[in-house]
Amino acid sequence: MSLIEQATAAFVGHFNYAPSHDFRAPGRVNLIGEHTDYNDGYVLPAAINFGTVVVAAKRSDQIIRACAVNFDEEIVTLALHEPMVSVDPFNWSNYLRGVCQQLLNKGYPLVGMDIAIVGDVPYGAGLSSSAALEIVLIRTLLAMSDASIDPTDAALLGQRAENDFIGAQTGIMDQLISARGQADHALLIDCRQLTSEPVPFDPDFKIVIFNSNVRRGLVDSEYNTRRRQCQAAASTMQISHLRDADLALLERFSHRMDATTYRRARHVITENERTLLAASTLANRDWATLGELMQASHNSMRDDFEITVPAIDGLVALIQEKLTPGMGGVRMTGGGFGGCVVALVHKSQTGQIIEHVANHYHAAFGLHETVYICQAVDGAFVAH
Ligand code: GLA
Repeated sequence: MSLIEQATAAFVGHFNYAPSHDFRAPGRVNLIGEHTDYNDGYVLPAAINFGTVVVAAKRSDQIIRACAVNFDEEIVTLALHEPMVSVDPFNWSNYLRGVCQQLLNKGYPLVGMDIAIVGDVPYGAGLSSSAALEIVLIRTLLAMSDASIDPTDAALLGQRAENDFIGAQTGIMDQLISARGQADHALLIDCRQLTSEPVPFDPDFKIVIFNSNVRRGLVDSEYNTRRRQCQAAASTMQISHLRDADLALLERFSHRMDATTYRRARHVITENERTLLAASTLANRDWATLGELMQASHNSMRDDFEITVPAIDGLVALIQEKLTPGMGGVRMTGGGFGGCVVALVHKSQTGQIIEHVANHYHAAFGLHETVYICQAVDGAFVAH
């Protein structure tokens, strides 16, 4: 059953009538540019063919009834004229409450509706299941209320919900690519200007994602610590964000930073340079250089930013072992501390790499990987 069919079945099962509309928002994979977005820097993600779908029908009152197939399926009921309060312990409906609050605060005239939600972005794997949920909900709530929004504003609003209501201090990358991604392209996003340039994929190369299935621990606290360290480095250098630094500036101020802060800043500064270069090498199909940039990015995340874990480093090493130089690259993707590895590889290499990982990853780390071969798809707000 497709996601729409699953959501429709749940909708009919719960509400006893058929939905009138369906909406979809994708998850994402980041090719390079990690922990650069909240430093006003550059990222190079693609929206992927794993996403979240909502089916919906309008009601004539101010009530929203919602069920989520991936969770307990229990119906959540919200009144749009009452203040949105978060549910504790954490529940998926906080995303719905958070985006409703943001939209209502901004004066969007929402109407009541029934909705059913289902997604196939693996949860907690660093592929942005949260952003896909936020963006599809914003798209649904506004379209059903006959209101429209600029896609970048939708992304900012989703980020706001995540920062203020959910409490995760994430950057803008995930929501922007889920809203504005382009089929068969990655987007080079300037996270200061919120502008983007599409970069076409070479059809002979595949996006292969390996989920390490490492259970991620301490992610939020480590993420927020990294943000603070980046901010501290920027303040020491008397600039607003690390985007404005280069290695020469960092060297000039290095004696006023502790070694950890210095390394955090070095990651962000060099990662921004790598990301800009990666966008042009992807466009020029210079796979040898792209492979080197991805490896340097991984090493920088491992040694300077310290956000990888042994199983992720092991997975990257296994893929690297089998990857013929010049035929692609591999690195961890996403916030870190587990999650996924992204490989961009020539189609002639995918079989042997997947087999090599299957033969060695479990033996070395006691975990089974999951493999997704992805396509880059349109974002939720891209007109067809
Ligand atoms: C998470 C956040 C993003 C970004 C990445 C790291 O996915 O949601 O904003 O900071 O981590 O690149």
